[in-house]
Amino acid sequence: MSAQTDIGIAMRGGGYYSTHTLGAKAVIESVENWVRDALRHCATLDSGTLSMADFGAADGGTSMALMRRSVEFLRGLIGDRPITLTYTDLPDNDYSALFHLALEGEDALASRPGVFVFAAATSFHQSIFPPESLSFGFSATAMHWLSRLPGNIPGHTHSVGASGATLEAFRDQARRDWESILLHRARELRSGGRLVLVNFCQDEAGHYLGNTGGVNMHDQFNRHWRALLDADVISWDEYERTNFQQSYRTVAELRAPLEPGGKAFKAGLRLEACEARTVRCPYAAEYQCTGDAHKFASEYLGTLRSWSERVFLSGLSAERPLEERRAIVDRLYREYEQDVERSPQGHAMDYVHCYMVLNKQ
Ligand SMILES: C[S@@+](CC[C@H](N)C(=O)[O-])C[C@H]1O[C@@H](n2cnc3c(N)ncnc32)[C@H](O)[C@@H]1O
Repeated sequence: MSAQTDIGIAMRGGGYYSTHTLGAKAVIESVENWVRDALRHCATLDSGTLSMADFGAADGGTSMALMRRSVEFLRGLIGDRPITLTYTDLPDNDYSALFHLALEGEDALASRPGVFVFAAATSFHQSIFPPESLSFGFSATAMHWLSRLPGNIPGHTHSVGASGATLEAFRDQARRDWESILLHRARELRSGGRLVLVNFCQDEAGHYLGNTGGVNMHDQFNRHWRALLDADVISWDEYERTNFQQSYRTVAELRAPLEPGGKAFKAGLRLEACEARTVRCPYAAEYQCTGDAHKFASEYLGTLRSWSERVFLSGLSAERPLEERRAIVDRLYREYEQDVERSPQGHAMDYVHCYMVLNKQ
């Protein structure tokens, strides 16, 4: 299997991601009590700057309200001590949208006294902060993106549809990446600092994002992409090269480096809390109340598109003009949307996450 590192990862820009992804915001808000408990500890660490980071923040819109409330909460604990908040993501992220929200949005942080907002475009698979400099780290719905694509996935676009050696290669990459993410964070975190990490997972029932008993979202992506191959809209090469560079780890896999004897444990990280939870797809939940299939199909495909569009765009040949590539991807989402509108029952992008709190000894 050949290795590729240039698969499109960035979310759709211009603020589209967070305005179309209400479920990710609900996931983030659901962990507010854990964030507050963690910050209570971080506030006691020393008397200097309290440094916070949001790893894999996209345009920041899904976490900004939580961050604003967290900063207000901290003010009650640390008075006017300076607070830094660094948003991290990849170089292709839309930092312009992020800074507009941070400077001008309703939850704007940058204008608050003593709050300093930065961005870093270094991957969370590498070191981002100096050793022992970070008080509090947060990350939601980001660390399932791998540092490299272990190979093409025969017959599918996502590793949930992989088997045999391909599945093993994704699992192995995910294991190595997770260990390395934790080791980097262990070095960056101050002694006594906290991490709240919310990662996609496969739970004990085998459920994962968009697969909680109804129609499997990733199978639908693959089915519609494959239909474009069968209709000679895309080539076999393009179909094969379209792969999500992702893995949904099990809870056991996420815990493994943190168990006694594990590499992250040896580096000083300790697991304080860990549980798998499912947050219902807000668009499917609304459809159950309203029965409006047209609205549901449009919003559902909007939320899918906000994080998946780059994967399909980057699978297409660079020899095609960009407008042609965009038209093909438009067709993919249009056909998927028509399918959902015709028979909406069972479609849902329920969020299955593993929620963790870690401290550094
Ligand atoms: C689904 S979005 C999540 C955004 C936000 N945290 C939320 O929960 O709504 C995943 C984000 O992770 C970012 N990401 C993926 N791999 C990354 C990496 N290696 N380093 C930093 N960010 C990464 C993507 O670019 C994307 O913006």
